[in-house]
Amino acid sequence: MDTEVFEFPSAPPGRGERRPDRARGAPTRPASVPSATAAQSTQPAAQRACGYGKVILLGEHAVVYGSHAIAAPIPLAMRARVQDAPAGQGVSLSLIEGEASEHRAPAPAVVSDVVQRTVELILTQLGLRGHALHIRVVSSVPRAMGLGSSAAFAVAVIRALDWHFKLELDDAQVNLLAFRCEALSHGTPSGIDNTVATYGEMVLYQRGEQTREVSQIQPLKVSHPLPLVIGVSGRRSLTAATVASVRRAWQQHPARYEAIFGQIDHLVLQGVQALKAEDWPRLGALMDSCHAQLQHLQVSSRELDALVRIAHENGAMGAKLTGGGRGGSIIALCPVDRDRVAQAMRAAGYQALTMDLG
Ligand code: PMV
Repeated sequence: MDTEVFEFPSAPPGRGERRPDRARGAPTRPASVPSATAAQSTQPAAQRACGYGKVILLGEHAVVYGSHAIAAPIPLAMRARVQDAPAGQGVSLSLIEGEASEHRAPAPAVVSDVVQRTVELILTQLGLRGHALHIRVVSSVPRAMGLGSSAAFAVAVIRALDWHFKLELDDAQVNLLAFRCEALSHGTPSGIDNTVATYGEMVLYQRGEQTREVSQIQPLKVSHPLPLVIGVSGRRSLTAATVASVRRAWQQHPARYEAIFGQIDHLVLQGVQALKAEDWPRLGALMDSCHAQLQHLQVSSRELDALVRIAHENGAMGAKLTGGGRGGSIIALCPVDRDRVAQAMRAAGYQALTMDLG
């Protein structure tokens, strides 16, 4: 277990600081997405203040440019709790990382800085600066592994503050503020991570045309969960860096990159049909094609390609990198041979997590 404590100076509430505006730019949410607040209102605070980790099944990177993507929550999450601290002590944060991140590399200082700025942004936007608080976050989402840890962190902290101060934020407000936090971590996020961290549902996602704060979120239901292996490379990767490098390449070769984004969009929409039909061989083939497109975007790596190869050699129906890439994780669809795939990854020195998605 690892504990990091950050201290923030106490500051008076700034002029014009306020809670997120319900009317302005809140992401759209279809009525069929249940409200986590309503669903969890009888649960204890520690459980309520939860932000989900996620995997992107199909569509990362292209989603930043307006393509569709499919993402789903994973049974790894951040849980946050807020307590009052003695007056004048400012805000302190303890971050406790659990077993699932035991293979991660040491945390670079830049992550701590982003975490600190994320909490400052949340406190400012909620009009809570000046309070003396202790925020405790327990994480089972490995950091910088393509599993949406930054969005899960933001959502957990926002929900914990919401609970502590009885702000009664709705999910759209939580999601909007988490999106703004993601902009600190990712630069130009699509909004998919914060959406799944907030709603905790498998979704087909497309960011808004005019503003990234207004997105299309369509819940995807599957009757049988997807049997998955997550292969964790152990190499940390900052999504901000991979997103920025794809952006530079797109600026240099817009036609080439837009063609790839278009291909990925097509794969995602076919993926929705495969999911609905529970056609795992088809879905697996689409994941393979998506990985090939991500290789064209230059966001794969030697380790990620090795993990994908191990998955195939041991019976996976499809495999691809998930999240920002260049490090982080892959996902493998394994309706049969799931344990074999996971064991082969572990035998090759990687961490493997088995889970059902959806
Ligand atoms: O690496 P992660 O888990 O933060 O996922 C990033 C997904 C991208 O599509 C690469 C970026 C985004 O904002 O959608």
